[in-house]
Amino acid sequence: MRRLQLFEFEDQPWLPASIRDSVTDFLQRGLILRLGVYRPVVPLLSRVMRQIGTSHVVDLCSGSAGPWSQLLEELDEREPVRVTLTDKYPNGLALAGLAGAGGGQLSYLPEPVDALDVPEHLKGLRTIFTGFHHFGPADARRILASAAEQRAAICVFEFTERSWKTVLTTPIVAPLAVFLTTPFARPLTLARLLWTYLVPVIPFVAAWDGVVSNLRTYLVDELRAMVSDAPAKDYAWEVGRLIAPGSRAPITYVLGYPAAPSPADLDSP
Ligand SMILES: C[S@@+](CC[C@H](N)C(=O)[O-])C[C@H]1O[C@@H](n2cnc3c(N)ncnc32)[C@H](O)[C@@H]1O
Repeated sequence: MRRLQLFEFEDQPWLPASIRDSVTDFLQRGLILRLGVYRPVVPLLSRVMRQIGTSHVVDLCSGSAGPWSQLLEELDEREPVRVTLTDKYPNGLALAGLAGAGGGQLSYLPEPVDALDVPEHLKGLRTIFTGFHHFGPADARRILASAAEQRAAICVFEFTERSWKTVLTTPIVAPLAVFLTTPFARPLTLARLLWTYLVPVIPFVAAWDGVVSNLRTYLVDELRAMVSDAPAKDYAWEVGRLIAPGSRAPITYVLGYPAAPSPADLDSP
């Protein structure tokens, strides 16, 4: 199936924050955390963090924080980890929730951070969950290449999949899941109830963005071709597809890290 770079509502600056935040919140709580989609990547993350000697993560395209609360529970058994969440459109609900939690291992930058131009002061392992497909091939290559040029490690994970199965099932499963999980959303605002049940904008956006996400997801061979163009001097790339026993969805991944980090490469945030 050919990759289609269609638009997602989530990427549109004009999308009201209440709709965008509700859709990423559904993605996070309704799918990723509920199904433990990204649990299988913990050993990969842990290995890269040890390789580059950092315990600080700069998460890009964070949305509502993705899988981080769950991953931290498991990573913490190995080492204490700190995560700085960032997004081009920082998520108001997640920001308020984390501020209420009084800080800790997870923090969210209130200012926009574009994954295409990561500020130099943000040091640490860069991660992108369910966000890499938002970028067309040239920009996606640029994200990987600039991590390698700056000798920063990067881990990209996607549970979306470009296949007929996901493209045909998502328009049914996504809105249904929004309808069923919304009563458990917190905070459950009047606006969220209105835009879900009375005028079903949120289920529609979740369905559209879900289908387009699958249509835009890169295949392993395309990711391999991408990293073969990226700088590779003393820098290692690993590309693959993780199918963990009992897991709900295969995860495609790209790991990039300085192969033999010098003391200057080791992050001390
Ligand atoms: C599908 S959501 C993924 C959220 C989260 N990582 C997860 O797994 O649930 C994609 C996120 O990418 C963000 N995004 C899109 N373009 C971006 C860019 N150029 N730089 C940073 N974030 C971007 C969107 O605002 C959205 O929150």
